[in-house]
Amino acid sequence: MAFALTLAVLISITGCVDLITVSSTQRYVNVTVGGTVHLQCSFITSSKETTNLIVQWNFVERSSITPKQIYYYQSGEAVVPKTYQGRLTVPPSNNANGNVSISITNMQVSDSGLYTCEVRNFPDIEGKSEASVIVHVLEPPSAPFCAVHGDIAVGHLVTLTCHSEKGSPPPTYSWIRLDQARARQPLMGRVTPTGLLEIRNISEFNFGEYQCNSSNSVGSSTCKLELSTEAQDGVIAGAVIGALLGCLLIVLVVWFVIHQFKKHKYADVKAQAAPEMKGTSRPPPATSDVSMEMSSPNPHGDDDEARA
Ligand SMILES: *[C@@H]1O[C@H](CO)[C@@H](O)[C@H](O)[C@H]1NC(C)=O
Ligand SMILES: *[C@@H]1O[C@H](CO)[C@@H](O)[C@H](O)[C@H]1NC(C)=O
Ligand SMILES: *[C@@H]1O[C@H](CO)[C@@H](O)[C@H](O)[C@H]1NC(C)=O
Ligand SMILES: *[C@@H]1O[C@H](CO)[C@@H](O)[C@H](O)[C@H]1NC(C)=O
Repeated sequence: MAFALTLAVLISITGCVDLITVSSTQRYVNVTVGGTVHLQCSFITSSKETTNLIVQWNFVERSSITPKQIYYYQSGEAVVPKTYQGRLTVPPSNNANGNVSISITNMQVSDSGLYTCEVRNFPDIEGKSEASVIVHVLEPPSAPFCAVHGDIAVGHLVTLTCHSEKGSPPPTYSWIRLDQARARQPLMGRVTPTGLLEIRNISEFNFGEYQCNSSNSVGSSTCKLELSTEAQDGVIAGAVIGALLGCLLIVLVVWFVIHQFKKHKYADVKAQAAPEMKGTSRPPPATSDVSMEMSSPNPHGDDDEARA
């Protein structure tokens, strides 16, 4: 206001300097996902005429440097790009009293960035012709995912992880034990800002239900996990069953090979016997068949043994 007054005084003194001053009452604006943002902008011009008024709003994404035009006004006509039609509204009293504010509905995280209002009113070419507002679109954390890493055996290091895919500002994570009696005791472990709970030298005392709370300034969400040896027992049982199945497969392969070998040996004996009677030589394919079938299943057997 003081600045505008100074300008007015300056203009009245110099008389011939054409000046425009664009300003906004906002610097930073926070809005939650899906919400509406009101972007303030107003101007003061030394020219009495506003028929040549041009108003332009630009947007620069946080991850970009290229400004995108989202509103353009000239000679009483306004242009709004298709992607903003229905979302961007201009108060009916636009331009009256130099108010060129806009509103944008259904804000998304990708709408975070710098919004610049630019006003030109020829011949007012000097002065401050633009004002900017930084918009942060805040998003509550998405449902986090809880997981256990490491060998859940007494004396080992186990880490509990917690992560939300979405959230702006980035969520912070906290862990508690759900069991009321134990919740009062401090967590045995170290919690990192990234949501990791490290439990060194784990003992049965650490077993139980854990809950992670993922939160930021606009919301929170939780996930739970059970820390016990049971989860790992299941894994061990699965491994044992797998190993047994592997052994069974090897036995079947060996049986099949031996069976085939016996069959072909019998066929060979018959083939050898036949030519003697007919007086022709024995056809070679019979032997190559046997050797192929003998050699091909063996590597498989070795593989299974190695895996088991
Ligand atoms: C906007 O949100 C951020 C993150 O929650 C916060 O640090 C900042 O103070 C907020 N600013 C305003 C103007 O509310
Ligand atoms: C401009 O208009 C908007 C919407 O009518 C209003 O909220 C805002 O206060 C006005 N700004 C100024 C500086 O008059
Ligand atoms: C691990 O815990 C056991 C029992 O709780 C303790 O006797 C042992 O000294 C601990 N080891 C380390 C390296 O802290
Ligand atoms: C998660 O943390 C937030 C912020 O500290 C808190 O407001 C909320 O009540 C917590 N939620 C649960 C389930 O503990």
